Amino acid sequence: MTQRSDVPADPPAGDRDARVRDEAAGAVPSPNADEIRRIGLSNALREVTAPLHRQAEKAGAISDIVRGRSSRAAYALLLRNLHAVYEAIERCLDRHRATPAVRHIVRDEVFRAGAIALDLENLCGGAAAAAAVPLLPEGRAYAEAVTASAEGDGVGLIGHAYTRYLGDLSGGQTVSQVLARTLGLDADKRNIYRFAAIGDLDAYKDGYRAAIDRAAFETDRPDAILAEAMRAFRLNIALFWAVQAAADGAAARAGTPAPVD
Ligand code: HEM
Repeated sequence: MTQRSDVPADPPAGDRDARVRDEAAGAVPSPNADEIRRIGLSNALREVTAPLHRQAEKAGAISDIVRGRSSRAAYALLLRNLHAVYEAIERCLDRHRATPAVRHIVRDEVFRAGAIALDLENLCGGAAAAAAVPLLPEGRAYAEAVTASAEGDGVGLIGHAYTRYLGDLSGGQTVSQVLARTLGLDADKRNIYRFAAIGDLDAYKDGYRAAIDRAAFETDRPDAILAEAMRAFRLNIALFWAVQAAADGAAARAGTPAPVD
């Protein structure tokens, strides 16, 4: 989105990164392995990522969507980059189906890469146009971080799966409604938020959290899962700012007029 005069300028990327790190590190001390199992890994995840969740809601392209200031082009760019991320998450989860801890959260019914590819194609009006939407350095870095987290016992993947899937099942539902209302996106362009194989989303999320809790008893380093979830949130935040900046730049080059309040 184009920066308007009544909106404070976004801080430079370096400042933002430092602020993200500081707030997250200072606000919620990370519990040790025994403490995590006692309070439940899913509760610990929610607690340590809460400050980052607040930042994610306000970051770049997501904030634009929620405030009704996004565009189809910006949303397509976000989807294209998230597609790379979900492909990495799902390829790695698939590989870890039988791995202790990770096996609990390998759930085909939440896999999103296929749905996103479909949305992107429908949004862009065909496969060729969808393929032309660029992968940004931040999208690539996020996907590479996912792949790196799947090395060895792969438990870091749990942090990535938590961040994206519980997000899609929660706030994603609100985002879907906003996209329908503000960008006029039909259901065929919002498959990412539609979980056809799941009836009761709240009950499903409870089951997913219980599976995350069980996973903590099959690894000696559940604290690594908290660290990876925090990394996942930061990668999301960086991607949201990058998508906004790239979409703004493209709109300016195309001579799109700035929105007026
Ligand atoms: C517009 C933005 C967003 C809104 C309005 C929103 C809203 C919410 C709400 C209301 C919940 C609580 C749902 C519940 O307790 O069942 C939630 C949970 C969650 N959200 Fe968001 N969210 C947004 C963006 C995001 C983003 C960008 C991410 C990650 C990239 C994210 C990740 C999560 C996660 C992981 C949870 C589960 C928390 C837990 O129960 O452990 N959200 N969100």
